Amino acid sequence: MEKIGVLTSGGDAPGMNPAVRSVVRTAIYHDLEVVGIKRGYAGLIENDFIEMKRNSVADIIHRGGTKLLTARSEEFKSKSGREKAFKNMQAAGIDGLVVIGGDGSLKGARAINNELDIPTIGIPGTIDNDLACTDYTLGFDTAMNTILDSLNKIRDTATSHERTFVIECMGRDSGYLTLMAGLAGGAEFILIPEIDFTLEEVNKKIVSGFEKGKLHSLILIAEGVEKPFEHLSKYNGSPGMALGEVIREETGLETRVSVLGHLQRGGSPTATDRVIASRMGAKAVELLIDGQRNKMVNYLQHSIGYCEIDDALKDEHKIDMDIYELARILSL
Ligand code: F6P
Repeated sequence: MEKIGVLTSGGDAPGMNPAVRSVVRTAIYHDLEVVGIKRGYAGLIENDFIEMKRNSVADIIHRGGTKLLTARSEEFKSKSGREKAFKNMQAAGIDGLVVIGGDGSLKGARAINNELDIPTIGIPGTIDNDLACTDYTLGFDTAMNTILDSLNKIRDTATSHERTFVIECMGRDSGYLTLMAGLAGGAEFILIPEIDFTLEEVNKKIVSGFEKGKLHSLILIAEGVEKPFEHLSKYNGSPGMALGEVIREETGLETRVSVLGHLQRGGSPTATDRVIASRMGAKAVELLIDGQRNKMVNYLQHSIGYCEIDDALKDEHKIDMDIYELARILSL
């Protein structure tokens, strides 16, 4: 192995920059050349490559987003798109690739491994923490702390006005980010797609909370919750907005909604994200040097290791019911 490529793909996540820095500097340490590919798989197809030197990754360890830019490429899903990418990589002399991203990005990495002669290693990077075979995906801790910061601020104003607040969090189909932020933030109710609930239960609990003397009600809802709202004609894809309306109509309580949106994806990576990103980046390069392919670097029980990309994509990261139950008990 002489020259490796590195790209970030899909939704950005805080921690991608420290991971890129670690890939580049570990590779240079092992006398490898490094090529940065801009805008993920789109850049592979469009031949948008830059040479990465030691100082190309200076001053990025503390920055959110990704210096390499990112995109979701439809063209790469087609065989012809991947062939273009392969030709560009061959012409550039890239003989190993590191892909940093979520499940869509890992599917792309798997396709490269299966169809092309370029060993590719994945690093899990998504705020959703929804991949199997790893306890952690880069960006999760920063996003959780961002939600927590918002929740603390909303708590202040919710208490002053004795209001109910619905706060909608990201996570795509997964409720993991919402659950952990809800436990850490002391939310009264955590609503996630993995756990069934009825709107009647939610209304009942809010009303009884105020009757018990609570000064506010904070409800965290994951963007992936759909089922309870599907029958509502006014449902427009935001479960938070829909829930706010239902609570207002059914209970008459003064209710506000905050959809946190993309602010959850930005910000300087936390120490946890920087440490794990640095360790994962180095591991990815070592795996390539060892002749591995089709693997995803993982983080299990505080150790860095690896698994088959296939296994990481097979299943979703499961919700820990004990954590859900604990959050429920503590919100009495
Ligand atoms: O997968 C990361 C994520 O932030 C999800 O939580 C969210 O559903 C999605 O990306 C949003 O994607 P986009 O930035 O393309 O709107």
